[in-house]
Amino acid sequence: MTPERLARGHELVARYPRPQSALVPFLQYCQEQDGYVTLQAMRDAAELVGITPGEVESIASFYTLLFKAPAGKHIVQVCRTLSCMLRGAEDLQAYIKRRLGIGHLETSADGQYYYEEVECLAACDRAPCLQHNLEYHYDVTPASFDKLLDSWQASAPAPAMPAE
Ligand code: FES
Repeated sequence: MTPERLARGHELVARYPRPQSALVPFLQYCQEQDGYVTLQAMRDAAELVGITPGEVESIASFYTLLFKAPAGKHIVQVCRTLSCMLRGAEDLQAYIKRRLGIGHLETSADGQYYYEEVECLAACDRAPCLQHNLEYHYDVTPASFDKLLDSWQASAPAPAMPAE
């Protein structure tokens, strides 16, 4: 583990009564550094909080915002659960995939966009909705997605995924 990563890990561990509670924030920090959660980051996390790398991997796989492979700078996650599907999410998903030129769990060739269909984002009353990095967008239509895409393309770099 690099000295910088170790120092950050100790800072995070000190915030919680149990070291294991720092696991996800530490993995988020590593993801910010590396672009995704690398195998080395999982080994570092295991060493930091005192569990096995296998346990780290199984916990990390539970969280959709922890990526085990390089993902795009813009993480676009569209809800695929009932309320959103009843309000047009399927057509919206098809539209977004066409616009981005990628499918579910894919990253665009230029590394800019990653697309994923996810379970309920807990904004069912504003369906259909999507999440761009950690920002929610509600009542999304193809036309409003076009505007979002224009704004994302105009903003560089993409909004960061906060480590905590
Ligand atoms: S069903 Fe889409 S946010 Fe709940």
